[in-house]
Amino acid sequence: MTIFPAFVRTRLSPLRAFALLACSALGGLAAQGFAAEAPAYGTAKARAMAYDTVARPILADACFGCHNEKKHKGHIDFTAFKDEKTVLKQRKVWRKAIDQVEAMEMPPEDEKQLSPEQKSALLAWMKQAANYVDCDRPGGIDPGPAPVRRLDRAEYNNTIRDLLGIDFDAGDAVGMPDEMSGSTFANLANGLILPPTLMDKYFASAEKVLDIVIGPADGGSPPQLEGKQKKQAKQAFDALLFVKPGADTPPRDAARKILERFAFRAYRRPLREGEVDRLLTLFDLSKANGDKFELSVRLAFKAVLVSPHFLMRVEQDRPSQGGKSAIDIDDYELASRLSYFLWSSMPDAPLFELAGQHKLSDPSILEQQVRRMLADPKAKALTDQFGMQWLQSGKVMTARPSTEFFPTFTNELRQAMFDESYTFFDKLRE
Ligand code: HEC
Repeated sequence: MTIFPAFVRTRLSPLRAFALLACSALGGLAAQGFAAEAPAYGTAKARAMAYDTVARPILADACFGCHNEKKHKGHIDFTAFKDEKTVLKQRKVWRKAIDQVEAMEMPPEDEKQLSPEQKSALLAWMKQAANYVDCDRPGGIDPGPAPVRRLDRAEYNNTIRDLLGIDFDAGDAVGMPDEMSGSTFANLANGLILPPTLMDKYFASAEKVLDIVIGPADGGSPPQLEGKQKKQAKQAFDALLFVKPGADTPPRDAARKILERFAFRAYRRPLREGEVDRLLTLFDLSKANGDKFELSVRLAFKAVLVSPHFLMRVEQDRPSQGGKSAIDIDDYELASRLSYFLWSSMPDAPLFELAGQHKLSDPSILEQQVRRMLADPKAKALTDQFGMQWLQSGKVMTARPSTEFFPTFTNELRQAMFDESYTFFDKLRE
């Protein structure tokens, strides 16, 4: 399976990563654009040959006459496509050509037409060219720089859930806005700006979750929790404040251990020099104010929860390696890419552990992990987020078709339409 090493080396967008995932998960199916009539040009060689032996002769016979260097009707010169490489660079042309040939617009009706054999062979070839994903060589494509991404709302909620161990909906709790606009991906880096009003929400949200897990900072009355949440909060408290100050553990030592672990998980990477010390300064401040141990830790926790290292996914900039267009990311960055892609959340303990041992990028271990992650209930996020945004299924929920033309369109039908694509994608995922 070739996708996994590719994932390590390149800065892949989720969409492209999904296409690559499809390479392995769906075999050649996705690569052929689900075209049943398309022969599978399994290897690069077979495809290149097919262009020379199948496609180009038909183009020469039926299309070159009007689409050449001198006469480029519709601004298309088919003679310029000398080999497969030039073909794959201009897929848009082939998409257009598929439409034209399928609609029998091309060749124009008063011209010599394609024979049925020519037509089906040309269409089959064009479809694979237009939809082809190179499963053998994704590392050769320049994936572009890795932008800094803020966690989107779903990612934020899930990350809080996994970091602190409580179910939390920031939208409900503090009115955090949703990025979903219906027509793009919510985690599109350019859309994930951080205006001051949103920063306010992150502060408010950090207060709320810490109120639940540790209790209010001002000593006010703790929030009313119900059965399950109460139990979760108690467990979360014990897990986070896992070292208690005691006879042989001075409070500051206990706090250091607690903060080291918390910040490591929150930043999803090993801490840099001085990072814990800065957090401990806050602990000291609060302690000097006479606050209880938990509340002093709470202040440092809050600093972590509003830190850009928590709210943003940053990948280190590195010089290009040996002239390659794609560069290696480290194992922690890989862990985050996997977890935010498949779970819309932070890496879990096994991923962190493997990253720490530099084993995650080992192709066989990586594959094992991806399989484990896909089998985890958290992978439902792949459908909820990526799948539904990809298919823009959210639009179904807000569409208002004319009642005059679609009198049978009801809310039940609307829901059924959504459920249908949801269930279909979710089945694929499984
Ligand atoms: C007799 C001349 C002629 C032949 C032969 C011909 N075309 Fe065209 N083609 C045209 C003209 C003229 C246009 C521009 C039409 C327009 O803009 O409405 C065009 C436009 C196109 C376009 C662009 C359409 C767009 O939406 O921009 C495509 C793609 C195309 N042809 C594909 C083909 C293919 C594939 C063949 C061979 C199977 C072919 N053509 C054969 C004359 C020809």
